[in-house]
Amino acid sequence: MSHPRKENPQVPSHDNQLIELDSVDSTNNYAMARIHEGMATDGLVCLTRHQWAGKGQRGRTWHSEFGQNLMMSLVIEPSPLILTQQFLFSAAIALGILDQVRLFEENNWTIKWPNDIYWNDRKAAGILVESVIKGKTWPFAVAGIGMNLNQEKFPPEIPNAISLKKITGNHYELKKTALDIRSSIQKRIEELKKDPDQTLSELNLSLYKKNQIVSIKKGTDILLTRLFGVDALGNLLTENGGFALGEVRMTDDHNG
Ligand code: BTN
Repeated sequence: MSHPRKENPQVPSHDNQLIELDSVDSTNNYAMARIHEGMATDGLVCLTRHQWAGKGQRGRTWHSEFGQNLMMSLVIEPSPLILTQQFLFSAAIALGILDQVRLFEENNWTIKWPNDIYWNDRKAAGILVESVIKGKTWPFAVAGIGMNLNQEKFPPEIPNAISLKKITGNHYELKKTALDIRSSIQKRIEELKKDPDQTLSELNLSLYKKNQIVSIKKGTDILLTRLFGVDALGNLLTENGGFALGEVRMTDDHNG
């Protein structure tokens, strides 16, 4: 039985754990609504060809050409992970995506702190994790993933965007890619549950600009410093000390 949302009169096509939508405000909103309706469990993927109010990090909007790119949300029940592991949780999601894109093209993939997926100096995918938190418990998270797959041209406002097709020359099928990414993320979440240190060290192995000079913006101040790594809480560790998530951002791109 399908459960279209009121503002979205189309009937979504879905099997057990995959809902495909032609168009939706945001797959994260859709997945979150299903969670609140008691209609979502771990592993549900909501996939769409078009979002009219796609959400990016820090309250930005996420634009994507119709039908060209991956826009999906994966429902995860994080337990027994705890709220202080939220950064490692987003790292596990980023690592799961890297596992997948490395099958398409082996080299030059990194994770730009806090969790953008980069190929060389270009952004290929972004992640927006939203959580349901009840007191001290963390019953659900929605991992929203926007990945440039088949788009060949990008607007001048985002000169550092790149797609998988631009990298490999191949075309990617949305549904297969979404299901493969679900599997690789689920493996990384299982790994995190067993061995959080491993997740952190793998993140640091794949960290964008590790041991290089980066530009960090704190308020209106810009600081050039050497990046050493990140810790389990997501603090950026540099030659000039540690910086908390939310306190600063790395400025050497155009997507923020
Ligand atoms: C970023 O700013 O880098 C994060 C972008 C996340 C975009 C994806 S697209 C699917 C899911 N639904 C949303 O509204 N946002 C995420």
